[in-house]
Amino acid sequence: MRLVSLGGLSALTLAMTAAAASTYDYIVVGGGPAGIITAERLSAANKKVLLIERGQGPTVDTGSSNTLSWNETLTPVDVPGLTSAVGSVTDYMCDDTAALAACVLGGGVTINYMVFVHPPDHDFDDKWPKGWKWANVAPAAKRLYQRNSGTTLPSKDGQRYDQGLYSTLSTFFSSLGWSSVDMITQPNEKHEVYSYPSWNIKDAIRVGPVRTYLPLAEERDNFTLRLGTKAIRVVRSGSQVTGVEVETEGNREIIKLSKKGRVVLAAGALSTPRLLFNSGIGPQAQILTANKTGITLPPKKDWIELPVGKNLKDHPIFSINVKTNETWGVFDTASVLNGSDTTNINQYESKASGVLTQGRHRVIFFSSNVGADGVTRYYQGSCAASGEGVVQIKVYMTHGLTSEGVLGLSEDGSTTIETAPYLQTEGDIEAATSFVKSMVDSITASSAGFELQTYTNTSAIIGSQTSGNHYVGTAKLGTDDGRKGGSSVVDTNTKVYGMDNLFISDASIHPDLPTGNSQTIVMVVAEMAVAKILAYK
Ligand SMILES: Cc1cc2nc3c(=O)[nH]c(=O)nc-3n(C[C@H](O)[C@H](O)[C@H](O)COP(=O)(O)OP(=O)(O)OC[C@H]3O[C@@H](n4cnc5c(N)ncnc54)[C@H](O)[C@@H]3O)c2cc1C
Ligand SMILES: *[C@@H]1O[C@H](CO)[C@@H](O)[C@H](O)[C@H]1NC(C)=O
Ligand SMILES: *[C@@H]1O[C@H](CO)[C@@H](O)[C@H](O)[C@H]1NC(C)=O
Ligand SMILES: *[C@@H]1O[C@H](CO)[C@@H](O)[C@H](O)[C@H]1NC(C)=O
Ligand SMILES: *[C@@H]1O[C@H](CO)[C@@H](O)[C@H](O)[C@H]1NC(C)=O
Ligand SMILES: *[C@@H]1O[C@H](CO)[C@@H](O)[C@H](O)[C@H]1NC(C)=O
Ligand SMILES: *[C@@H]1O[C@H](CO)[C@@H](O)[C@H](O)[C@H]1NC(C)=O
Repeated sequence: MRLVSLGGLSALTLAMTAAAASTYDYIVVGGGPAGIITAERLSAANKKVLLIERGQGPTVDTGSSNTLSWNETLTPVDVPGLTSAVGSVTDYMCDDTAALAACVLGGGVTINYMVFVHPPDHDFDDKWPKGWKWANVAPAAKRLYQRNSGTTLPSKDGQRYDQGLYSTLSTFFSSLGWSSVDMITQPNEKHEVYSYPSWNIKDAIRVGPVRTYLPLAEERDNFTLRLGTKAIRVVRSGSQVTGVEVETEGNREIIKLSKKGRVVLAAGALSTPRLLFNSGIGPQAQILTANKTGITLPPKKDWIELPVGKNLKDHPIFSINVKTNETWGVFDTASVLNGSDTTNINQYESKASGVLTQGRHRVIFFSSNVGADGVTRYYQGSCAASGEGVVQIKVYMTHGLTSEGVLGLSEDGSTTIETAPYLQTEGDIEAATSFVKSMVDSITASSAGFELQTYTNTSAIIGSQTSGNHYVGTAKLGTDDGRKGGSSVVDTNTKVYGMDNLFISDASIHPDLPTGNSQTIVMVVAEMAVAKILAYK
């Protein structure tokens, strides 16, 4: 691999590097989960690939020196037991997106809570178009799981630790008649079920494509990763992309594609739309705003009117805080960070075992209901301790919800939420209220002595709604061409309508919300998309 980090290089080295690496078969923009998978598979197919990532590497292998006080090969993002502290000891969040997104190699997967939900068949079968049904996508999922499967049992000694909360809640759910399942081996069981959490962990370390794909690409001469490099726009000649304009430490340059080269955008659902607006692709109002941010647009005759930013979807979260009579509590990450928790640290370092191999949640549950509108909506509950004997249940309303929002652009160049994607329809409000009410009734009726805290009734819990950070749909994939009044921005090969060699592979192309947290399905879809891109002649 060539790892070009412009900061430390002399002008001469820079010029030589530029000459040697002048054109590429593929430029992949964005080194999040989708971008890394895409770039790795393209390089495996003998293509000359440049992967551009605006952030830095989060692991020692990818250049980070932000190591733990007690182990110089590990950074805070690596240790599963530290996930709830990652936000306070790293500085990886983007400063120009409409909502939370991570601007670091690995994208959201580097900083998230690692919940790894294998998508059920219906996630594809309900609304994805022909060619993208589960039967079509299953081999792509298999390719992902071979490298990055997730686990419900991350500790090498085969034990589970700190199981008090699991014990309290599993007793509660079985009293309701819900079933215990393994969410990895039974992905289609999504009604009245609970599971030990499935996490994105392997060998006791947070994984994801930075660890499970990138090293394979790095072994190939034809693969180049450029960190600290922000793409601004694609450079077009009509329907052809000829290069990508990038900014590194305030300097702009254009990186060229080879003659039959292609670009794949993978900057995430909150950033890929900006790259499109900046390239003259999207609603005219957004392109005009892009012009005010100081970028160079293609001539107006080449603008492509597509519904970029529309169809924004996310999982709303409702918080249910339950005080129990138990004594389990919140894991003390501060004592791990400062090295004083030697028992857990030693067990982790010498045996790859113990509570530090686990993420923050102790139970994940799923259920569904059918609304007055006849629509089936799903719910995921992620349960973690938030105090002594207190569990915070984050209830996500997921697959089946009918609300949509709009992502736009502001004159300072940040993406903005023009219309929030939450509880916009009567059906969603009614279904969410009904599900939360059933939870509230069960919790308050429980003989376990449970008590609601902070939000003590259904309307207060519905009012606690926050963002799920699982944004999808802002450059939707589908057969209804957005230039002709349809809702889609990319076709079923993930190629942008009206362009010859511009593709997208990230959460923005998903035409529907998954039943669970989004990272796994983003990776599955990336495996599928890159196969389509390679097959497209
Ligand atoms: C706080 C938080 C918690 C979450 N928790 C979970 C969870 O527990 N489980 C789960 O399944 N999902 C979770 N998610 C969601 C999951 O992380 C995302 O769905 C997933 O990361 C999306 O992948 P992506 O490749 O589409 O985009 P991203 O992960 O956003 O990656 C985009 C990449 O592109 C780069 N980039 C952006 N713009 C440019 C540019 N102009 N030039 C160059 N590079 C650029 C970014 O730096 C980033 O590396 C969470 C998300 C957040 C924000
Ligand atoms: C590198 O890429 C070029 C151009 O696609 C290709 O001809 C060559 O076979 C590749 N080499 C390797 C080692 O992958
Ligand atoms: C873009 O902005 C420039 C000024 O920065 C202006 O001259 C030009 O007319 C604008 N283009 C369009 C299409 O509005
Ligand atoms: C480490 O953090 C814990 C928890 O905050 C604190 O009690 C302890 O005194 C700290 N130890 C050191 C050596 O700083
Ligand atoms: C640091 O952690 C790694 C992974 O857990 C382990 O293999 C290694 O031995 C640790 N280093 C030290 C000095 O303990
Ligand atoms: C909490 O209450 C339940 C149900 O009454 C009881 O079984 C359990 O032992 C209690 N736990 C504690 C720690 O008192
Ligand atoms: C619900 O709780 C809120 C805040 O605690 C309170 O203001 C409201 O009156 C309650 N509503 C009902 C219907 O009890």
